[in-house]
Amino acid sequence: MKATAVANANVALVKYWGKREASLILPYNSSISMTCDGLQTRTTVEFSPEYTHDMLIINDEELKKDEKDIMGHIERIRKMAGINNYAKMVSETNFPVAAGLASSASGLAAFTLAAVKAAGLNLDKKELSILARMGSGSACRSVLEGFVEWKKGEKQDGSDSYAECVAGKNHWPEFRMIATVVSVKRKPVGSRAGMAQTVATSPYYKSWLESINEDLEKVRTGIKEKDFEAVGETAEYNCIKMHATMMTTKPPIIYWLPETMEIIHWVRSVRESGTPCYFTIDAGPQVKVMCLEKDLNSLNKEIQSLEGVIKTIMCRPGDGTNIIKEHLF
Ligand code: PMV
Repeated sequence: MKATAVANANVALVKYWGKREASLILPYNSSISMTCDGLQTRTTVEFSPEYTHDMLIINDEELKKDEKDIMGHIERIRKMAGINNYAKMVSETNFPVAAGLASSASGLAAFTLAAVKAAGLNLDKKELSILARMGSGSACRSVLEGFVEWKKGEKQDGSDSYAECVAGKNHWPEFRMIATVVSVKRKPVGSRAGMAQTVATSPYYKSWLESINEDLEKVRTGIKEKDFEAVGETAEYNCIKMHATMMTTKPPIIYWLPETMEIIHWVRSVRESGTPCYFTIDAGPQVKVMCLEKDLNSLNKEIQSLEGVIKTIMCRPGDGTNIIKEHLF
């Protein structure tokens, strides 16, 4: 009753922000992302009668029982499989957690697949995506490779709210992302609380939702046609619109740091001087720079020389969530 899974984080090009139903994690809007190789989580889960409580260790640090939503998720999987044993869960990421690099997506996707296998269940991709969604919304997209759309669905039970592949990882290998780390501190407001506050108090939330379908259409078509400008421009503007809803909540949520602004302005000036590149930012201060493979190394070098940049991680469209043989314990 032990299994290990590996999952990549994903970065949304059209963002998910706001839940229509909180307990099943059902979104108000559909979203599209790229599954990013290079931002990886490995998780081993073991159920055993020898364990006297659930144990969760992330990057060598043991988390307290009531500290993590993951505990509710393990209970859900135990119920599905009809088992009672406690679990030991060990997880390792190769990037900082809870700082806006989508660690919850790769973490919950890897955890869901490892736990399901360890519990002896066999789920298809759709079922796995639905289950991962209940752990953390954006995790449902990390189940799949390449470019992925999470269809918001209409049903109350969430059975039509899951992710599907728009294009596989080999469709557009020239599309790249440089994830920059400008702070390794935990973010002040988590995405769960942040989006609830936005839905409840931002006067711009309605306009955000009204503008989503157009963005989805442009990004979907742009990916299929490999139109970098269309995808980059739409994704960048979508990110700014999401942050505008965050900044207008009561009290306002401002995830950007001075270093974030520095990179935003840098991207815009590089673009003006003729190199195509765009930015996107999630619920944190880190900036992800979208570019083409031919410009990747020179842009990465330049970003690394900007003040306040701690580290960069270069990503290409990556694999979905998979089982691997090597366990972490
Ligand atoms: O799934 P969560 O709770 O980590 O929320 C993700 C929210 C954003 O990263 C800001 C947007 C997205 O679609 O990934």
